Amino acid sequence: SINIPVITIDGPTASGKGTVARIVAEKLHFHYLDSGALYRLTALSVLRSNIKIEDVGQIASIASHLPCRFADSRIFLADEDVSDAIRKEEVGIMASKVAAIPEVRKALVSLQTGFRKAPGLVGDGRDMGTVIFPDAILKVFLTASADIRAQRRYKQLMEKGIPANIDSLRNDLIERDLRDTQRKESPLVPAKDALTLDTSHLGIDETVERILDWFAQRSKN
Ligand code: CDP
Ligand code: CDP
Repeated sequence: SINIPVITIDGPTASGKGTVARIVAEKLHFHYLDSGALYRLTALSVLRSNIKIEDVGQIASIASHLPCRFADSRIFLADEDVSDAIRKEEVGIMASKVAAIPEVRKALVSLQTGFRKAPGLVGDGRDMGTVIFPDAILKVFLTASADIRAQRRYKQLMEKGIPANIDSLRNDLIERDLRDTQRKESPLVPAKDALTLDTSHLGIDETVERILDWFAQRSKN
C-alpha cells in the first residue's frame, strides 16, 4: 500500500479538518478516514460503561475491538447509528483523555492504516502526518484562532439543534488543545514537512482549492 497516495490534514478542533478533508476526498475520489471518530467511539463506549479512566487495559481492549462501521457518512457502533452521539462535547473531552493513553493509540493503528486503499486516502486528525502516515505525499496542518473555532463549533451545534454555550465551548476547546499538544504520545504538532494554513479568515472552498493545488504540484514531481 506504500504507493497509494495519502493526504494528511491535522490540526486543532474546529480548524475545519473534517469538512475540508471530506470535500478533498470527494473531489479526488479518494477514501476518507475520520481518525477522531475512532477516539470518540472509544470514549462513548467508556462513558457508557462503568470503566474508570485509570483502567488503561480495559480501555485499550475496547479500542482494539471497536465494532464500528462507516457507511454513507454515518458511523455505526455495532448496529447503532452513533453519528450524532459521538459529536457531543462531553464525548470530545473524554476522547482527548483516552487519546492520551499510549495503549489506546497503539490499539487503533492498524484500523487506521487499513483505510489506505486505492486510489488514495485523505486522513484527518492530530497525528496523521506525524505518526500514522509519515510517508504521506502531502501533509497539511490547519489552524484558526480559538475565538473563531469556538464560533464555528457553536454555529455547527446550533444547526444540529444541540444546545451549547459559546464561552464553555471556548474553554473546552482550549483545554482540549492543551491536553492534545502537551501529551507525551503523538502530541498535536505539525509534521516537519507539513504545510500550515491559518483558516481564521479563509473559507472552506478556498482551503480546499489550496490543498488540491498543493496536491497537484506534489503529484507532478
Ligand atoms: O474537523 P474539525 O473539528 O477541525 O472542524 P470541522 O468540523 O470540519 O469544522 C467546524 C465548523 O467550521 C464547520 O461547521 C465548518 O463548516 C466550519 N468552517 C468554516 O466556517 N470555515 C472554514 N474555513 C472551515 C470550517
Ligand atoms: O472534531 P474535533 O477536531 O473536535 O475532534 P476529533 O478530531 O473528532 O478528535 C477528538 C479527540 O480525539 C481529539 O481532541 C484528540 O484528543 C483525539 N484524536 C487524536 O488524539 N488523534 C487523532 N488522530 C484524532 C483525534
